[in-house]
Amino acid sequence: RIINVILSGGVGSRLWPLSRKSKPKQYLPIFNNKSLFALTIERNQKVCQHVMLVGSVQNIDLAKEDLQKVSHEIIVEAVPRNTAAAIAFAAFAAGPDDILIVTPSDHLIEGEEQYLQAIKRGIEFAREGFLVTFGINPTRPETGYGYIESEGNDVLSFREKPNFETAKDFLKSGNFLWNSGIFCFKASTFLHELERFDPKVFSASKTAFEAAKDGVLDWDLSKKIPSKSVDYAIMERSDTIKVVPSFFQWSDMGSFDSLYDYLIAKGHPKDEQGNIVIGETKHTVFLGVQNCVVVNTDDALLIMDKAYAQDVKHIYEQLEKEN
Ligand code: GDD
Ligand code: MG
Repeated sequence: RIINVILSGGVGSRLWPLSRKSKPKQYLPIFNNKSLFALTIERNQKVCQHVMLVGSVQNIDLAKEDLQKVSHEIIVEAVPRNTAAAIAFAAFAAGPDDILIVTPSDHLIEGEEQYLQAIKRGIEFAREGFLVTFGINPTRPETGYGYIESEGNDVLSFREKPNFETAKDFLKSGNFLWNSGIFCFKASTFLHELERFDPKVFSASKTAFEAAKDGVLDWDLSKKIPSKSVDYAIMERSDTIKVVPSFFQWSDMGSFDSLYDYLIAKGHPKDEQGNIVIGETKHTVFLGVQNCVVVNTDDALLIMDKAYAQDVKHIYEQLEKEN
């Protein structure tokens, strides 16, 4: 079987107030009336026969309608323990020879042909026992991504979230690709590498998974799993990694920067000074200001200079503290 493991754990704090804990960004129907989650399922159905959704108890219900259309199962996390554990749960639920295509649920991907071509190449490497990553040509020294040093399909090193200076060096050297955050491997390959490089995450995830009731994980046992991302736990350490250099359009819709560019490209109204409204319910006029983003929701209003897009997460963190 080829299984699409969809990770849906993040809250999307940089998209507040569009994205909420009760309604994270991947479930918002803002892309031609479809959500990024629905688009993720559709795209991967062309190669996968089954979906395993690993997601949070706080919002998993939002996924159910889209999942009805496909063969699926759901693993519900009581508390997020990061991606190494989330992928381990899916790998334990799968058969050893099942091929897992692990995808985030909150990325925008365009160019389906190139996407499927890359995935098919990835599946071949996965069958040979490799952990497969998909590399994107980097365009700026972004510090929020992983970098893959490569020669063709061979991976020389994997470096998660470098600092700005290092990222600039990576870009200059020309040998690095961005890690897209999509992975492909046999369930058994993943579990073998996890046990080898992070036995604690392996055994604590196994214990929690085996005690799960109807696919719902227990809070206490989950709390005992070290919270580590797959990038740090495995990708930086393993020597059985391949990369498929990929040419689809890839965007991590993480902040109002990328959403702004996307909306404008799709013809969303913008005034002459670059101001836009998201969620317009009344006639809005901007006077004497430029590059403003107004985000209007039922119970919260954000008025922001676009240059501050990365700081929105601090508002979210502040609100979390006050609650
Ligand atoms: N189910 C579940 N549980 N999903 C989770 C959890 C969790 O505890 N934590 C994160 N996820 C999901 C997120 O919702 C997202 O879809 C995906 O896993 C990746 O997590 P992020 O927290 O968004 O990771 P990142 O953006 O910092 O870094 C990763 O993605 C980059 C590309 O967007 C890394 O893989 C980087 O190397 C990569 O460049
Ligand atoms: Mg991310």
